[in-house]
Amino acid sequence: DIPSFTLNTGAKIPSVGMGCWQGQQGAGRDNELVSALLTAIKVGYRHLDTAQFYANEEEVGQAVRESGVPRSEFFVTTKMSPAAVKDPVKEIDSSLSKLNIDYIDLWLMHWPQGLTSTDMSSAQAFGLENQKDLGPTFNETWAKMEDIFLNTHRGKVKAIGISNFSPKNLEILLRTAKVVPAVNQIEAHPYLPDQELVDLCKEKGIHVTAYSPLGQYNSPIHKDSDLEQIAKAHDTTTANVALSWAVQRGTSVAPKSTNEKRMKQNITLLKLSDAEMKTIDAISKDPKRSTRLNVSAYNKQTKRVIGWTLEELG
Ligand code: A2P
Repeated sequence: DIPSFTLNTGAKIPSVGMGCWQGQQGAGRDNELVSALLTAIKVGYRHLDTAQFYANEEEVGQAVRESGVPRSEFFVTTKMSPAAVKDPVKEIDSSLSKLNIDYIDLWLMHWPQGLTSTDMSSAQAFGLENQKDLGPTFNETWAKMEDIFLNTHRGKVKAIGISNFSPKNLEILLRTAKVVPAVNQIEAHPYLPDQELVDLCKEKGIHVTAYSPLGQYNSPIHKDSDLEQIAKAHDTTTANVALSWAVQRGTSVAPKSTNEKRMKQNITLLKLSDAEMKTIDAISKDPKRSTRLNVSAYNKQTKRVIGWTLEELG
């Protein structure tokens, strides 16, 4: 069994999950993804992390149903797209119907951000083409998610949370939140430890899940000299060391892999020494090794946040 962390709902989240974002180069919505997920389930993955935006909830649900593993052993996360901030009820009904697995373990607000005024084609897609229409604040959207969780869809959504929330975003959300988010899912790895945010979440009882915990594609993490040295001492890979560090500092991880060997490597984690943990903690103090590695243009280009102007957010 994969070790797990306990959420503020009492539910357990596996320390290693399978990221289902297929990106620009991935398998997409087809049988290739279902068979990759069935392999992941076979080697021991129980947390599957998808989103409306990934357009593959059907395939994730299909893999869960076809696996022969009881539903209760799974932890399935999905996320509400920014296109849905005005109508979360429609969104959750859509996710439940696409996944078709009775209930969702964790439902996240995918981003706090809105869209740039220059990015009109996606602005239109997100129904926010009128620049004066800032849309609801994320506080208002969260209140609707709370109502879904506590009342209208009770039992169908076992926990609610957020993703890509900065410390400032979180502080603003908590001013009005009645339900403390169970999880904040953020990009985190040795080149972006975001320790301050991780500590703040811990203080508030919010579990952190790291996405892109290895960076994406040709990530420099695989060739990092400090990680290489530690990997050599344990006769393992830099990827394995980076994931072990992440879990040991209290964050769960959702690395994506479609390769069985790497899937196995990513769930068989090590115990690192305090000195090794400190070495990895210090990597991002080197400015050359302090960077985002996830390509999400969305996070980089966004000029405003749903319902809030950047001035208000500081
Ligand atoms: P692959 O699927 O071929 O294993 P993301 O940032 O979206 O989680 O992507 C992670 C990337 O790292 C993927 O391109 C994945 O490719 C690769 N990867 C996953 N696990 C490992 C590993 N243990 N060693 C090297 N590369 C890995």
